[in-house]
Amino acid sequence: MTGQEKGGTLSPDRVIRSYPVASLHAGPESEPPKISRPKISRIAWLTGRLTAGQGHCHIRSSDMSSTMTDTATPSQPDNSPDNPANALLHPELPALDERLATSLFRDGRSFDRWKPLPVSDETLRTVYDLARLGPTSGNSCPARFVFIRHPEAKQKLRPALSSGNVEKTMQAPVTVIVAHDPLFYDRLPHLWPYEDARDWFVHNAALAEETAIRNATLQGAYLLLAARAVGLDAGPMSGFDRAKVDAAFLMPQGWRSEFLINLGYGDPEDLPPRAPRLTFKEACEIL
Ligand SMILES: Cc1cc2nc3c(=O)[nH]c(=O)nc-3n(C[C@H](O)[C@H](O)[C@H](O)COP(=O)(O)O)c2cc1C
Repeated sequence: MTGQEKGGTLSPDRVIRSYPVASLHAGPESEPPKISRPKISRIAWLTGRLTAGQGHCHIRSSDMSSTMTDTATPSQPDNSPDNPANALLHPELPALDERLATSLFRDGRSFDRWKPLPVSDETLRTVYDLARLGPTSGNSCPARFVFIRHPEAKQKLRPALSSGNVEKTMQAPVTVIVAHDPLFYDRLPHLWPYEDARDWFVHNAALAEETAIRNATLQGAYLLLAARAVGLDAGPMSGFDRAKVDAAFLMPQGWRSEFLINLGYGDPEDLPPRAPRLTFKEACEIL
């Protein structure tokens, strides 16, 4: 990395190349890109996610990006630069933003101690609005999040925590309950309008539960990384009594808790050295 890059100026060879959006889904350059009508439609639909709301969710029309219009035909996609669908949203960003990779992963730690700095509603909304863009199967978006910030709500959480998690959680500016909605499939006519996806789950409780847990857990991880992306630190926890958390916070909505994440600005004092991770050879196979 050059000094210039460290200072934020991009060297020309690291500026992202201007791929038309449609070609990102295409085969080799010699072949005409194959892109079907449903896939193009999905690009536009992908911006429609559940929004942070007060007990309800809705699509905001302002979220439908004007750069993602359905202009291509199945046989002849329009890859010309004049097509607004081909505009890059952030052409100024480098292909791999090293600083972001460092914030998300290399410097990202599980914090136990927190600086006494507040986290605003606006920051929490930004975190959610990033996290909701992460992929889920069938765009099912089963995760629900309860942000516990008020001291009274924190005290309500206290009896559900394992003893080792009490102090750090009481100190953290915000604790998020990552939960899933067992009836997530009722939103599928809106979130996945291409076919009757609700029908896949409504008569199959085991599949619904498996799908909800898998995808809500993924969404919790997206939320943790989104928090790091906006400069927050995180401390995930599974040491708590799920039944108590569900009874105290999730009964009215019928949601089920998965895990907790403390959020705030971490105090690195006393942060232990990073524990080892498995090497590529130990944990991965390429077949
Ligand atoms: C799902 C999950 C549950 C966790 N539960 C707890 C917990 O109950 N208490 C705790 O102190 N740390 C908990 N942790 C934190 C892990 O111990 C920590 O992420 C791991 O040691 C790696 O630390 P690092 O992120 O600082 O490298 C949990 C982490 C995850 C992802």
